[in-house]
Amino acid sequence: MRSLINILDFSVEELYALMDTANDIIAHPEAYCERCKGKKLATLFFEPSTRTRLSFEAAMYELGGHVIGFSEAQSSSAAKGESVADTAKVISCYADIIAMRHPRDGAPYVAALNASIPVINAGDGGHNHPTQTLADLLTIYREKGRFENLTVGLCGDLKYGRTVHSLISALSRYAGVKFVLISPEELKLPSYVKKEVLAVQNIPYEQTDDLEAAMPALDILYMTRIQRERFPDPEEYERLKDSYILTPDKLKNAKPDLCILHPLPRVNEISVAVDKDPRACYFKQVANGKYMRMALILKLLEGMDEPEREVGEIAYDLKCENPRCIVQTEQELPQAFRCTNRERKIYRCVYCESKQILKGD
Ligand code: CP
Repeated sequence: MRSLINILDFSVEELYALMDTANDIIAHPEAYCERCKGKKLATLFFEPSTRTRLSFEAAMYELGGHVIGFSEAQSSSAAKGESVADTAKVISCYADIIAMRHPRDGAPYVAALNASIPVINAGDGGHNHPTQTLADLLTIYREKGRFENLTVGLCGDLKYGRTVHSLISALSRYAGVKFVLISPEELKLPSYVKKEVLAVQNIPYEQTDDLEAAMPALDILYMTRIQRERFPDPEEYERLKDSYILTPDKLKNAKPDLCILHPLPRVNEISVAVDKDPRACYFKQVANGKYMRMALILKLLEGMDEPEREVGEIAYDLKCENPRCIVQTEQELPQAFRCTNRERKIYRCVYCESKQILKGD
């Protein structure tokens, strides 16, 4: 059985196939309106959402299926202490597929390990958001006609921005992509993404805090919100929240065919005046998200097996130190670490991917 937890769970070919299906749905929606007749999607949202939850629900309705679920942890038995693992087992008795958002890194992976139906990661803490990446990819492909040879600027909260982490992983698989990482010092891209995604594949990137200086080179500008809910220190959020505000004036030196994206919601990092600019693609991105989620639901309900993957060496005697990892709160969840660099003895938590270095032999 197949789930989508990380965007890299799907090959480049599978992502092209999903985009083909999404484009066909856009062209011929009537051909799809009964494809999920009799099927149920469960939307398990332990964290707020407008786009992701409602686009999943709209997607299932437009495929002729049904939707059950909850939109906040307090209205589920999580409020009484039920584990993610038990929730996944229970929902498997009621639905055919799960879309889960959770504030803890790795929670949908724990759900997938315990469910008997496919699980889709609809955003886990500051970790990943693969279905947002599906929306981003379809928008880039429809606007630019390619993924290769693009200079992609990512601006704002690159530290906690799960959409940024997933998009970098996805775009790193195409030739000639360059990244310009635009953020304040405190919100730079985590070093594990730089080292293990960008450096390992020799993907060129530069880091800057100057959006206007970076602007002329960009083919894509991916703006992000500074996320109040991810900051351990509210004072730091107050200091950084207005780091970048995109205005028509700041676009003066941008390419005429720049594609401006934002996963939304925005607070004030893109002025409303930019919405009229034909280069503003973030509301098209919203619409594309629904079609990609329709294509994804169809694919996962085909009941395909997971492709064979090399698991590699696993260590069970390390302890995850990421305070946001699901292992910190889930009852009896075993610690498990995958070796990612044998020479330097680097291990990564299988749930949240945070690093541990094995001491001794
Ligand atoms: N882009 C996104 O994930 O939006 P929501 O938080 O509204 O789902």
